Amino acid sequence: MNRAGFDFRAFTSTYGDRAVPAAVNSEYHTALYCAENGLLFLYAMSPYARGLDAIIIGAGPAGIAMAYRLKHDLHFHDFLIFDKLDGIGGTWRANTYPGCGCDLKSHLYSFSFNPNPNWSKELCEQPEILQYMEDTVDKFDIRKHVHTSVECTGAKWHVETAKWEVFLKDLKSGVEYSRFASVLVSAVGAISFPRDVKFPGMEKFGGALFHTARWDHSVSYENKRVAVIGNGCSAAQVVPAVAQKAAFVKQYARSGQWFHERPNRQYSELEKFLFRWLPLWQRLLRLRIFLEADEETTAYFPTARGLRIRIQKENEARRYIQSKAPQKYWGYIIPKFPLGCKRRIFDPGYLDALSLPNVELLPEGIREITETGIVSASGVRDDFDIIVLATGFQVSEFLTPMHIVGADGRSLHQQWRECRGAQAYLGTYVHNFPNLAILFGPNTFPANNSALFACETQADYAVKSLFAPLLDRRADVIEVKQTAEDCTTNAIHKQLRNTVFSADCSNWYIGQFGRNAASWPGMARSFWASTWIPDWSAFNMVGGSRLWPLYTARRWLNTMTPLTKVVLVLSLVAAAPMDKAV
Ligand SMILES: Cc1cc2nc3c(=O)[nH]c(=O)nc-3n(C[C@H](O)[C@H](O)[C@H](O)COP(=O)(O)OP(=O)(O)OC[C@H]3O[C@@H](n4cnc5c(N)ncnc54)[C@H](O)[C@@H]3O)c2cc1C
Ligand SMILES: NC(=O)c1ccc[n+]([C@@H]2O[C@H](COP(=O)([O-])OP(=O)(O)OC[C@H]3O[C@@H](n4cnc5c(N)ncnc54)[C@H](OP(=O)(O)O)[C@@H]3O)[C@@H](O)[C@H]2O)c1
Repeated sequence: MNRAGFDFRAFTSTYGDRAVPAAVNSEYHTALYCAENGLLFLYAMSPYARGLDAIIIGAGPAGIAMAYRLKHDLHFHDFLIFDKLDGIGGTWRANTYPGCGCDLKSHLYSFSFNPNPNWSKELCEQPEILQYMEDTVDKFDIRKHVHTSVECTGAKWHVETAKWEVFLKDLKSGVEYSRFASVLVSAVGAISFPRDVKFPGMEKFGGALFHTARWDHSVSYENKRVAVIGNGCSAAQVVPAVAQKAAFVKQYARSGQWFHERPNRQYSELEKFLFRWLPLWQRLLRLRIFLEADEETTAYFPTARGLRIRIQKENEARRYIQSKAPQKYWGYIIPKFPLGCKRRIFDPGYLDALSLPNVELLPEGIREITETGIVSASGVRDDFDIIVLATGFQVSEFLTPMHIVGADGRSLHQQWRECRGAQAYLGTYVHNFPNLAILFGPNTFPANNSALFACETQADYAVKSLFAPLLDRRADVIEVKQTAEDCTTNAIHKQLRNTVFSADCSNWYIGQFGRNAASWPGMARSFWASTWIPDWSAFNMVGGSRLWPLYTARRWLNTMTPLTKVVLVLSLVAAAPMDKAV
């Protein structure tokens, strides 16, 4: 019985094939009953809506973008961010290896809500990008929400209370605890968990051995013998940087790569002044870089135009490699696979470094690691002081290694195993995992465009399709329908089938089940368009209040900019005499 003397136990209903949580069910009907009986407006609110709060895991670019949207678009402040690192910045805090930088122009690789007129050059390095992230967090008052050095080990959806229980571990004290929240956002990044490579004998090595994303700065590489295993973007940045001081650098590369020129101009003080005082100019530059990057993606699609552009780009890259690298390496470096199958590399001085007397490239993998060095696949032995694993990340295992348990008791990874790899509706929502949004999730990676753009687009989508309806009491629990998730996933994989990503090369897009769980199959702007207006028919929405349109109107009024308010008032004033005249 409730305060109004109404017996809610009489109500039974189901939600998909599950019973609606008792609390949600009764409160939902409380809301309906109260609204229908003209009782107090306030009483019609659901306790979940009243107590709406959120936990974001990850304080990288995606977590920062989410926090900004919640605070500044929705005026929603009841959220906490947890990150296992000792500060914010994600990729740009974890990757501090020598030479680490961005291969996308910084005016695009930045937040749309915080354009930076002070970028020192076209493609900036890690310290400048990290500083930009720190400045963004301070400028928009996000830091107070962030708890660092706290790892999320898992989460469980409690059907009865319609809350996420999030399991956390304070990495400094070792204390494990849990927090409850109505909404869970995963912003853990996909290129953040180093690939778990195991070479025989690894544990015996007497020198220093670390991954690029965990660079050990206590170890000096000056005048040392350094091995770099791998031939991806990270290795291409490490090799020329380390070669400047090391006695000898040997790179183990199992396969080739398409390399492209990477011009990188410093911005003059005049340009920075103009970016600051003519913001439209900076916006137009950003738009131009975005459209150019999107256009490049055409080369990856199985169309006649795509093929023509790809052959032209491959020829350019081939000529570039031949103009820079020593001839003895051409056969190893120039790939047999089509451009785009692996992420193309904009050369940060790597090909020049191959001509240095202290640099050697061995086109082989690793047979064994010994106490003193490496034995290559064909048996070549070398001794090293330092071994750098530039072996990449576990990209296709999203949210790894967290154990996330959904409404029916199955874990996210178990569910994904059953459907042959990670999948999510528009990269964001997974059935059986209500009130959970994943940022930079499955099949959201733009081929050539800014990952920040993808993260921001998803944060925006999560605001529109999850946070706004919960805040407006349109629902208490929102879950994507399995059919919607399956249909969009099938369509994506059908589109990806004949793209270069599925060609004959090893890349991190394809997971252990042979599916490409990483790439978005179109241009970055088409991802934005797909998420611009939520398709409500894709979701099961439970609970909430019938009066949600009033709450929506109230939110609009509260979050309107002063300029919009002025325009609205003027429009109403202008419309008033017309009404009288009619
Ligand atoms: C070296 C490098 C260079 C790159 N350069 C480019 C580029 O030029 N252009 C481009 O578009 N993209 C680039 N990327 C891709 C890059 O990952 C994205 O641009 C971007 O950082 C993604 O942001 P994110 O917030 O989703 O993930 P991340 O930046 O990876 O942040 C995720 C955060 O979540 C935290 N986290 C993860 N798991 C847990 C857990 N269980 N508990 C608590 N915290 C957790 C991590 O510590 C991290 O701080 C690069 C990646 C690397 C590694
Ligand atoms: N902006 C930038 O300039 C920049 C810089 C760094 C990283 N990134 C981003 O991060 C992503 C990951 O780049 P990454 O270079 O770190 O990783 P990556 O592209 O996945 O490359 C990993 C490399 O390690 C090799 N490798 C993996 N396992 C191995 C094993 N067991 N034995 C021998 N070699 C092994 C791979 O060889 P095979 O190819 O033969 O498998 C590959 O050459 C990039 O694609 C990009 O998105 C960007």
